[in-house]
Amino acid sequence: MAHTTPAEERDARPSISPRSVAPQHDTDPVDSGIGSSSEYDQENTEDHFLHAHDDDSSFTDEGYDESDASSFLSSILSEVRRGVEIEGRIYPAHGKHEYGMPMDEKELDRNDLQHHKYTLLLNDRLYVAPIPDSQLGEQSSRILDLGTGTGIWAIDMADKFPNTEVIGVDIAPTQPNFVPPNCIFEIDDVEEDWPYRPNHFDFVHGRDLMTAVRDWPRLIQQAYTHLKPGGWIQLASTIPGALSDDNTIPPNSGYVEAGRLYFEMAEKMGAPLDAPRSWADQMRAAGFTNVQDEVYKLPMGPWPRSKRLRTVGKLEQIMILDGGFEAYMLRGYTQILGGRVEDLQVILALARREIKDPSVHTYVLFHITYGMKPQEQ
Ligand SMILES: C[S@@+](CC[C@H](N)C(=O)[O-])C[C@H]1O[C@@H](n2cnc3c(N)ncnc32)[C@H](O)[C@@H]1O
Repeated sequence: MAHTTPAEERDARPSISPRSVAPQHDTDPVDSGIGSSSEYDQENTEDHFLHAHDDDSSFTDEGYDESDASSFLSSILSEVRRGVEIEGRIYPAHGKHEYGMPMDEKELDRNDLQHHKYTLLLNDRLYVAPIPDSQLGEQSSRILDLGTGTGIWAIDMADKFPNTEVIGVDIAPTQPNFVPPNCIFEIDDVEEDWPYRPNHFDFVHGRDLMTAVRDWPRLIQQAYTHLKPGGWIQLASTIPGALSDDNTIPPNSGYVEAGRLYFEMAEKMGAPLDAPRSWADQMRAAGFTNVQDEVYKLPMGPWPRSKRLRTVGKLEQIMILDGGFEAYMLRGYTQILGGRVEDLQVILALARREIKDPSVHTYVLFHITYGMKPQEQ
């Protein structure tokens, strides 16, 4: 595994993504709605009707002796930073499997928008696992964020718990330079053996790792090993199949077809998109207790009655219309399903039209599962 120290990574940031701590968007397209509990606010958990208004051989160190180590390292670093270009988008070069989504500036903006959307969806919470603030706020507390992306969640957690060390790990070096002093980023593949001590973390968190992780039971088992007794894991992901409570999805829907293709592609990659439905059982099998699923409806478009969910829906709509479909599907459709870009664009054009149609009330599920490593007897 090509493991670089945080200091090496920090000293040699990629040219791909010079970023500042506070993500800059040219315009703030929507009223965020955070904190505004409207009288029309509504529950959006699964039980409630939602009312309308890669080749790893290049990373082995075989054939390199001690004296070659630094050039070996710098060639890895340069490859990791450069990424791989496919159909005009840049994808991570590091990691034992190929990852389906890009790592360019457009994707990073999308990542930050997603964070805002999820926080709002969860009523301004960064996580839902019932972890006492005291457990995460101690001097010796440690948090690990898997597949941290732009590191926006890790940075927010580091700000919230300034005494706590927050480590964000990702195969792509897309994190900002200026971060809270208690926030560290590392480049690593979370599907490899984790380089941390056992019983080390208070919280292991992973959000939106679809097509990033193939072997969930192994990842969950590693989290168990590296969590302290009493520590928590929380995994969260969107399950992207379009649903509707009021049958407003049109027949021959482009949006539904796009979702079906995405499921097929992920299945072929060995990373099925319905994996979150198995997390609870996998956590129990690993030894976790207090395991719970929480499933939220994530509206597509500003159609729900609740102001908060309208904002969430608007963010989801912007995110998908502004390159989200391509981010999720372009590489997989062309390389895994063997399709042509032109055909994909036809399906996506149809899907975009539906997404903009206010009479179509679709949502997807945002699935969260958490559990606690038992206290020592
Ligand atoms: C959709 S982004 C989610 C980012 C972040 N978790 C969030 O919610 O803001 C998925 C991230 O996982 C990273 N990733 C993919 N495969 C990975 C792997 N095997 N190990 C570590 N990171 C990985 C990608 O580079 C990308 O940054």
